[in-house]
Amino acid sequence: MQKRTLLQAAAAVALLGASGLGLAQDNVFKIGLVLPMTGQQATTGRQIEAAARLWMAQNGDTVAGKKVQLIVKDDTSLPDQTRRLAQELVVNEKVNVLAGMGITPSALAVAPIATQSKTPLVVMAAATSSITEASPYIVRTSFTLPQVSVAMADWSPKNGIKSVVTLVTDYGPGLDAEKYFSERFLFNGGKVLEKLRVPLRNPDFAPFLQKVRDLKPDALFVFVPSGAGAAVMKQFGERGMDKAGIRLIGTGDVTDDDQLNDMGDVALGVVTSHHYSAFHPSPANKKFVADFMKANKNLRPNFMAMGGYDGMRVIYEALKKTGGKGGGDALVAAMKGQIFESPRGPVFIDAQTRDIVQNVYLRKVEKKDGQLYNVEFDVIKDVKDPGKSKQ
Ligand code: PHB
Repeated sequence: MQKRTLLQAAAAVALLGASGLGLAQDNVFKIGLVLPMTGQQATTGRQIEAAARLWMAQNGDTVAGKKVQLIVKDDTSLPDQTRRLAQELVVNEKVNVLAGMGITPSALAVAPIATQSKTPLVVMAAATSSITEASPYIVRTSFTLPQVSVAMADWSPKNGIKSVVTLVTDYGPGLDAEKYFSERFLFNGGKVLEKLRVPLRNPDFAPFLQKVRDLKPDALFVFVPSGAGAAVMKQFGERGMDKAGIRLIGTGDVTDDDQLNDMGDVALGVVTSHHYSAFHPSPANKKFVADFMKANKNLRPNFMAMGGYDGMRVIYEALKKTGGKGGGDALVAAMKGQIFESPRGPVFIDAQTRDIVQNVYLRKVEKKDGQLYNVEFDVIKDVKDPGKSKQ
């Protein structure tokens, strides 16, 4: 009799334990963050993870009564890995949201998984215009290359640049940058002497820069993904391009805050257009940069960190609004139309396109207190992705 009671008690405890676990599971909100933490795009992963953790440190990990859990996976920037990890996160971990996506091929590889499983996919880095069209569950908090390239094509002819050579990395964002910069530059009366494309994997810029030297344009317009800018800048300097009177212009990816301070004087005076600079002079940004650096051994946040930080905000707000009810559809609906003051400036998630509308700044590299920064000198307000206006 006594034995039976004990057994019954044990069974009751086991049951309780199981249902307790079930309850705990229901009260967890999982974010699967797939990023390149190693390999060629590792700085992007490091920046975004740090920003996501900062957001959680500042805003707590309980939202609408749920415990937010961040699960970080390293895809080494190989899209097959991104797809496999996203699949595991959805099927085994039952994540509520997928996020991250360091490069365009990763985002495109995961888009069908987001659609099939009705899981929101918050793209925090990848920036090819078409990505948001790959799934109705994609929401973007980074930027698009068309969005930032046009401003550069408007600024340059007014500032003594009549001829350019373009040099872009040969995949989605590079092709977007090349197209939107060149078309607008031509429209503004400029001449594009040559369009050069370098491979994404292990690029060697030397032969391309030699060609540019021979062509002698007023300026070289560059897009390379975050992490590759320092190599371009170094070889640009080593080949004496600046001394030969060729200016370097581009999207802000080339003067990436993650690397800028180590680029040396060759970067001084380089003008770029972009949506975020660590030097953006708002109180919200000053606090963001100070908190980020404090939490990360003085690492300066770059535009990738900004995409990760705002991505977390968009997820938190959607969870608050829905209370976690209604699954992925309700979450995406609550992400659409969000409008807020980001450290980068005012931001709006366009309800029609699920893409980000934001200010684009013209910036020049200057030394401030002995450090190199992208110092903003002009702004084009509330820029929509021009890649969408042709729909
Ligand atoms: C992309 O792959 O979409 C991408 C990566 C890095 C950038 C911009 C775009 O800096």
